[in-house]
Amino acid sequence: MNLRVLVPLLAAATIFAAEPIAPERLATMIEALTRLGPEKVNANPKLQEALGKVLDATRGTPQFVKLVDEFQMKGQEAGLLEVALKLPADEAGVAAMRFLLAGNEAKLVTAALAGTNALATAQGLGNTADKRAVPLLLPILSDAKREVALRKAVVHALAQTQEGATELLRLARAEKLGADVKFVAGAELNAVRWPAIKTEAAKLLPPPAGQNEKPLPPLAELLKMKGDAKNGAAAYFRESVGCGKCHQVDGKGIDFGPALSEIGSKLGKDALLEAILEPSAGVSFGYEAWSVELKNGDELFGLVVSDAADEITLKTVGGVVTRVKKVDIAKRAQTKLSVMPTGLAQTMTVQELVDLLEFLSTLKKK
Ligand code: HEC
Repeated sequence: MNLRVLVPLLAAATIFAAEPIAPERLATMIEALTRLGPEKVNANPKLQEALGKVLDATRGTPQFVKLVDEFQMKGQEAGLLEVALKLPADEAGVAAMRFLLAGNEAKLVTAALAGTNALATAQGLGNTADKRAVPLLLPILSDAKREVALRKAVVHALAQTQEGATELLRLARAEKLGADVKFVAGAELNAVRWPAIKTEAAKLLPPPAGQNEKPLPPLAELLKMKGDAKNGAAAYFRESVGCGKCHQVDGKGIDFGPALSEIGSKLGKDALLEAILEPSAGVSFGYEAWSVELKNGDELFGLVVSDAADEITLKTVGGVVTRVKKVDIAKRAQTKLSVMPTGLAQTMTVQELVDLLEFLSTLKKK
C-alpha cells in the first residue's frame, strides 16, 4: 500500500469516532501507520487522529507501549503507567516504567507508590533495575506505617541497582533498617554481584539462616550421605534458598537459568554439588553473564538471549526481558562469573543440601 491509499483508509477509519475499532481493522490500521512511519504520521493531522484512536483501542496492552515508543509520543504517561502496573514483570510493563523514569514523570510514579497500586509499582520499579527509581523508593523504607509486603518489595527493588544496594547498606550501618525488613535486606544484599557491598553485608547482616556455621564435611562424605528427595524439593522452592527464582522444574519457577527438569540425567551428584558450591567453575554454554553499560549511565546485567544488527535482548534475574538499542550502549562485556550466586549452601543445613542433591538427581528424562 502506498501513501495515496493509506491516508484515505486511515482517515475513513476515524470517521466513526464514537465507535470502538473492530479487532481486524485495528491490526490493519496499526500496520498501515507503522509502514508510514513517525515522520509522515506526525506531519498529518488526519493520520495523527487515526493514531490517537489506535492508541485508545490498545490501552493497557503491550501494543500501546510499542506505539508510544515507535511514534515518540508525548503526554501518554497515564497509559504507560497503566501497562506498567498491569504487567510489572513483563517486557512491555518494564519498558513502560522505564519510559516514565526517563521522562521525569516521577510525580506520577510517586503518586502510584502512595496509593493502592503501591506493591505493583515497587515491583515494576525493581524490574527496571534503573537507578532513577532509588530516590522514589527510599522514603517507603523510613515509613513504618506502610505494609510489610510493600516494604519487602521495596528492599528487593533497591537491591537491583548498585546505588540502591548502597543505600540499603547505609541504612543498615546507621541501624535505621526496620526489624520487619532486616532479614530480607540481609538475604538480598548477601546475594548481590558487587563484591564490596556483598562483603560488608556479610558482616552487617550475616547471611540468613546461617545454618552452616561449620565448614561443610569433605565432599566424598557428603556424597555418601543419604538424602530425602521430598525434603530436598521443599528446600529448592524455599524463599531463602531460592533455586526456583531462577530455574524451572516441570514448568514451576521462573525461567531464567537452564531448566532443571532433566538435570539428573545430565549431571551426577558430584557435578550437581559442584554446580551449587562453585557456580562459576563451569558456566553452561549460552548462559554467560553480560554487563551492559548504557550511554545514559544505566547498567544492565544478565543473559544475552538474542543479538541482532541493531539491538540486543537481555534477560535479567527475575526473568524480565529487555531490548536495548545498540546505539544506546556505551560498553558491554562478558563476565567470567556465573549469574548464579555463590554461598547458596549457607542457606540450608548440611542434611538439606544432601536432600537437595537427592531431589535433583531424581529429575530424569521422561
Ligand atoms: C540468580 C539466579 C540463580 C539462582 C538463585 C540459582 N541458580 Fe543455578 N544457575 C543459574 C544460571 C544462570 C546457571 C547457568 C550458568 C552456570 O552454569 O553457572 C545456573 C546453573 C545451574 C546448574 C547447572 C545446570 C546445567 O545444565 O549444567 C545447576 C545444577 C543449578 N544451577 C542448580 C541450582 C540450585 C540447586 C539452586 C538453588 C540452591 C540454584 N541453581 C540457584 C542461575 C541461578
